[in-house]
Amino acid sequence: MADMDISGSASSEGFASVGLFSSLASYLERGIGTVEGWLSPTTASILAQLLVEQVRAGLRGDVCEIGVHHGRLFMVLANAQAPGERAVAVDVFGHQEKNVDRSGRGDRAVFERNLGRYAPAATVEIVQESSLDLQRLGFLSHRFRFISIDGGHTAPTVANDLRLAERTLLGGGIVALDDILSSHWTGVLTGLAAYVGAGGTLVPFALVPNKLLLTTDAAAAGQGRALLRRLFPLALAKPDLEFLSGTVDSYDDHPHYDRETCGNLHRALDALRGERDALASQLAQVREEAARLQREHDALASRVAAAEAHATRLQASTSWRVTGPLRTVVGLARGRG
Ligand SMILES: C[S@@+](CC[C@H](N)C(=O)[O-])C[C@H]1O[C@@H](n2cnc3c(N)ncnc32)[C@H](O)[C@@H]1O
Repeated sequence: MADMDISGSASSEGFASVGLFSSLASYLERGIGTVEGWLSPTTASILAQLLVEQVRAGLRGDVCEIGVHHGRLFMVLANAQAPGERAVAVDVFGHQEKNVDRSGRGDRAVFERNLGRYAPAATVEIVQESSLDLQRLGFLSHRFRFISIDGGHTAPTVANDLRLAERTLLGGGIVALDDILSSHWTGVLTGLAAYVGAGGTLVPFALVPNKLLLTTDAAAAGQGRALLRRLFPLALAKPDLEFLSGTVDSYDDHPHYDRETCGNLHRALDALRGERDALASQLAQVREEAARLQREHDALASRVAAAEAHATRLQASTSWRVTGPLRTVVGLARGRG
């Protein structure tokens, strides 16, 4: 079980990441910062962990995002697939005239480039449509375990997307609704109120940075809350806040769960290791040169020693002594000259 843990849990096993979801961990640590979009680091970790826990619990189904922009959040979904699952990306992309409130601006080419870079092994279905047309196009035949709603932010669009989610979500599945408390996008809260007022059955259970998490029923909501409290204790800001007709736990961003910062640290560490290796190889070269110079020095020293020994032997020899007077005469003659 531990090999699926990609959490930022405060326990010692936090940040462990191997096996099936290693590409997810690597995207969170090294990719997410390069993809333009709106997704806080703590929220990214929370969504990733929820997706992994679903697989761990045996829940299988497709995953979906309405409104992908360049794919910052979608790459999390695409890297959390279990075998046989699909990740469905819905965006108007080039038909920006259908993006009535100008929320983001999907770019299919950039999105597909990011997919190739960060989720090359994922099974992805791209639906280039407005979410308002999805029901007519047979979208209700899907069965999802996770849906991110981040397309149009007007109240009618949000209510429409929540209805679609309710009708396609598997029991225990999760919906993440973006910009729920943003003062710039009040259509989201208005759309949620309209959806609930019209009898919508999804149950909110947590507010994470910039998103509301909902699920299918009260039991699943209780499980979701317990799971987040266990895995993200440092980010829990306020438990049991009243929200519509129920309660939610509220989570803030917390640096401990920022896997991108962790990735940045890895990068900085890699750079330092590179510098260390370069310095080590320079040091090895300098040592080699020093050893060569030492050898040269030793050779010269032994030649000098040999010459000195030769001179000493010469001075001590009989012929040296015999020719002594002659050298004295020559010396005196030179002195006079
Ligand atoms: C805020 S951005 C999405 C950000 C993205 N989730 C991320 O992770 O960065 C909103 C996206 O929704 C798309 N969009 C707007 N209205 C839509 C609609 N009615 N149906 C589908 N997509 C829509 C926009 O083209 C844009 O790409």
